Amino acid sequence: MKKLHDAKMLQTLYQSLTKSIPESLKVFGSIFHINRGNPFNLEVLVDSWPDYQTVITRPQKQEMIDDKDYYTNTYHIFSKDLHKLPEILGSDHIINWKQSLIIQGCQNGLNEKIREAVAFKPVQLDYSKRFLYIRDDLKYTSNASKLKRSQEVNSSENMKFRSTNGNFRPSLLDVSHAKLVNDNWKSGQNERSLRYIKRCLQSFPGYCLLGPEGSPVSWLIMEQTGELRMGYTLPEYRGSGMTKQMIFAYLQYLQENGIPYFWEVEEMNEPSHKVAKAFGFHVDCGWHEWKCVPAEML
Ligand SMILES: CC(C)(COP(=O)(O)OP(=O)(O)OC[C@H]1O[C@@H](n2cnc3c(N)ncnc32)[C@H](O)[C@@H]1OP(=O)(O)O)[C@@H](O)C(=O)NCCC(=O)NCCS
Repeated sequence: MKKLHDAKMLQTLYQSLTKSIPESLKVFGSIFHINRGNPFNLEVLVDSWPDYQTVITRPQKQEMIDDKDYYTNTYHIFSKDLHKLPEILGSDHIINWKQSLIIQGCQNGLNEKIREAVAFKPVQLDYSKRFLYIRDDLKYTSNASKLKRSQEVNSSENMKFRSTNGNFRPSLLDVSHAKLVNDNWKSGQNERSLRYIKRCLQSFPGYCLLGPEGSPVSWLIMEQTGELRMGYTLPEYRGSGMTKQMIFAYLQYLQENGIPYFWEVEEMNEPSHKVAKAFGFHVDCGWHEWKCVPAEML
């Protein structure tokens, strides 16, 4: 695998990956943000260039200094040739199997190949599959005129979610909200996840609805691939339309700024499925994640 540094090549790769959405989504979204300042210091590996088959994004080496920090030690994968993946992923030069880490991708055939790659490694694999939700305007983000048209359609469709209650105000989140987000994120609630959330909030726009006291009552943040995560509404404000007001304002912000986004939802999370569908998201292929922990760290 070779590292792709050149800005023009990265732009070419980004454009090419649009043709493989939604399967390419995790690397597509990473490269979008790499091309806009690379706040997570990620690097891009391809098996060959320009006729690539496999693309992997991962943090640069100096970022992966905490062997137990799988929030940071995260790899994203897309491949047009899944057969070669076990050999590629099995190499310690591509993935540092001595660390706790996460691999994510949106291709249904990945699970078998990742299992093959770790078959003889002393690594515990924890696999989860979720529903990937995208909207049709996602593919337009690299085309300004089409994006504008899709924004107009989306705005009129979502008029009904506009805030009518002056006591609640949509707002961008900032790093001072990291603790609140972390305390209510079921995959977080530890020091490493807090550090990760702070970094997300410093690097990408997160959004909330501020209540009468001026603190967030409902929120959603963006991570390094453009995925919307950690959505939460305080229990006392659920079922009141607050979540939809917040999401309406957030999606409008993302569309106006040409930032691609997508969402994943666990199978049993019925409220989230309903919210996603209410905003015109539809399910496409799968969202897959493998949490890998070296046996010696268990
Ligand atoms: C997911 C969450 C943000 C939704 O917020 P909310 O304020 O409850 O959302 P809404 O009131 O708009 O409800 C959404 C829909 O789900 C429905 N709903 C609520 N609870 C439900 C349940 N237990 N089963 C089925 N449907 C349910 C509502 O009736 C509503 O349907 P409608 O759009 O047809 O009216 C909130 O429940 C939450 O914070 N959950 C915990 C964290 C979480 O799961 N985050 C999402 C990660 S993807």
